[in-house]
Amino acid sequence: MVHLYFVMTIAPINPPPEFAKHDPATPAFWNVRFDANFTPWDQRGVPQCLRDYLIAHPAPQKVLIPGCGAAYEVKHFLQCGWTPTAIDFSPAAVAQARVQLGAAASHVHEGDFFGEAILPGDFDVIYERAFLCALPRRLWADWAKRVAELIPSGGLMIGFFFADDNPKGPPFGLKQGELEQMLSPAFSLIEKKTPTDSIPIFAGKEIWQVWARK
Ligand SMILES: C[S@@+](CC[C@H](N)C(=O)[O-])C[C@H]1O[C@@H](n2cnc3c(N)ncnc32)[C@H](O)[C@@H]1O
Repeated sequence: MVHLYFVMTIAPINPPPEFAKHDPATPAFWNVRFDANFTPWDQRGVPQCLRDYLIAHPAPQKVLIPGCGAAYEVKHFLQCGWTPTAIDFSPAAVAQARVQLGAAASHVHEGDFFGEAILPGDFDVIYERAFLCALPRRLWADWAKRVAELIPSGGLMIGFFFADDNPKGPPFGLKQGELEQMLSPAFSLIEKKTPTDSIPIFAGKEIWQVWARK
């Protein structure tokens, strides 16, 4: 049986390290996993849907990458002429991202998505991957409010959304219609497709979507 939780592992052959119990809404939950190199959500590269999107939409913009983890996408956004800002509230994630990014490390900042490190008007686009599904569901209404506040009218949210009705997480999955319910007051869905290069933890359950801010 394949276990799907970041709190567990993706295969019982390699049992996960024993972690102290922490709330995923706190940096401590993520710090211990990055420090132990237990990051089953990590794609170790740039997903194809994002590569395709940036080819199809060559006009560079200012993009926020919340909960960036190792932040592989930063270099790719830069290569495409975009201005990326990646943030993560876990110091261990930020350290890993900075090592991975080398000369581009200044694009990564330690900060809370819900805090004052980022301000409305600073970005045209938010790129989502494995951030919403990392948040306990009790924070989802705040997330929807925050993305609507950060993205100006005409701006976009692009990225991957994890669909599942699993009670436990992370990753916390979206039930049928749940994302639409959260976003439709402020956004319109303009693109949707199934990724072909999902890693096992998300395979068959993640959907690439583009939402335009009304
Ligand atoms: C499952 S990981 C995904 C990392 C990365 N997006 C990826 O695709 O590999 C979730 C990340 O979100 C970060 N995170 C969770 N809540 C956060 C918050 N409120 N503000 C900033 N980062 C947060 C965690 O520290 C963790 O690095």
